[in-house]
Amino acid sequence: MNVQVLRVMFFLVIPALWSYLPSISAFWPEKYVPVLDSDSLTLHCDSYTSNVQWMVPSNECLSQSLHSSTLLLSDISYHCTGLYTCLTMDEVQVTSTHVLIRDSDNEHLNISCFMDSYSSPVLQCSAYIPISGDRLVRAKANISSAANTTWLEMKFTDNNKESLVRFNLSVPKWCPYEEQENPIVVTVEAMTDSQYMHGQRAYYIRDIVVPGAPEHVIVNKTSGSWKYPSTWAKPSSFFPLLFQVHLQYKDHSEGLVLQNRMMMSFTNVKCMRVRCRDMYYNSSWSVWASPVIRSRCSFKNDITK
Ligand SMILES: *[C@@H]1O[C@H](CO)[C@@H](O)[C@H](O)[C@H]1NC(C)=O
Ligand SMILES: *[C@@H]1O[C@H](CO)[C@@H](O)[C@H](O)[C@H]1NC(C)=O
Ligand SMILES: *[C@@H]1O[C@H](CO)[C@@H](O)[C@H](O)[C@H]1NC(C)=O
Ligand SMILES: *[C@@H]1O[C@H](CO)[C@@H](O)[C@H](O)[C@H]1NC(C)=O
Ligand SMILES: *[C@@H]1O[C@H](CO)[C@@H](O)[C@H](O)[C@H]1NC(C)=O
Ligand SMILES: *[C@@H]1O[C@H](CO)[C@@H](O)[C@H](O)[C@H]1NC(C)=O
Repeated sequence: MNVQVLRVMFFLVIPALWSYLPSISAFWPEKYVPVLDSDSLTLHCDSYTSNVQWMVPSNECLSQSLHSSTLLLSDISYHCTGLYTCLTMDEVQVTSTHVLIRDSDNEHLNISCFMDSYSSPVLQCSAYIPISGDRLVRAKANISSAANTTWLEMKFTDNNKESLVRFNLSVPKWCPYEEQENPIVVTVEAMTDSQYMHGQRAYYIRDIVVPGAPEHVIVNKTSGSWKYPSTWAKPSSFFPLLFQVHLQYKDHSEGLVLQNRMMMSFTNVKCMRVRCRDMYYNSSWSVWASPVIRSRCSFKNDITK
């Protein structure tokens, strides 16, 4: 066989082998280009020699030779997504780019985050990633004053069908005593071997603080008491909480009481439960601390709405 025949075989055989290899890399690729369905794209191979060759996942979006320093892809569809690699004639890799179809209908990914305290080092987040197959997800939280934050990378296999992804992001350093001037921007990206998704949400921490439930709840016949959640920012004089106490009386009637102290006195109470929120800023209520039950009871949840 002469060299030319070998080259032809190289281009016929390698792309076929390529598709049997694991379709998505273990790490988020360094170079990737999301395009919209039916877009065009030009890939450049900046080699010291103009004598180059491309390894492509499919010829479907190409109408040119694979021996050119620029490669024009047109009318891109899912058939031509994948890894485009440029090699010199002696097979040294010059560049390698993932071409992916961007899903423009999913720019939000239902990103939802909260913090259990102003001083918490983590944002607890979830995102809805409506794609299946092997997929990579990465997320980060950045704030303009601290530009350098690293990505949290996650990998899911086809066996994991769960679309809701939960993750904790470390929060860029900021001072909980000061008014937050710039929002924290949470960015989530996801990809398979052919698809790409992107979502972003901006948050002021005061809007997403949800305290943990009150702790050490104790009830006797005449009073109930509780303590601040241990995760809450200290000192509590600077970050006071407001408590809501839900009482059920012996005659089965119920009542709600707002309380800023950590105890209250009562009579004829059968059950009590308590939750909390920031006193100065209308944060969400915490979940209820487990009800303290002295005899069988269940609360009417609708009175707390
Ligand atoms: C995304 O969030 C919106 C609004 O919060 C909700 O109506 C919708 O059901 C969510 N979608 C999914 C798939 O969770
Ligand atoms: C935060 O990260 C996003 C996504 O990488 C980037 O577009 C944005 O410019 C960053 N913002 C700041 C303030 O660093
Ligand atoms: C961000 O971090 C990377 C690696 O940790 C570093 O190479 C880069 O210089 C940093 N950029 C800034 C603006 O601090
Ligand atoms: C996030 O952090 C919280 C508290 O630090 C922890 O309870 C939770 O399990 C963590 N979630 C994930 C997905 O790691
Ligand atoms: C109930 O608890 C409070 C505070 O812990 C205590 O002062 C009170 O004496 C107790 N009452 C009874 C009847 O045990
Ligand atoms: C908090 O909510 C209450 C009742 O919903 C309202 O009266 C009050 O003005 C709100 N305060 C702030 C700071 O938004």
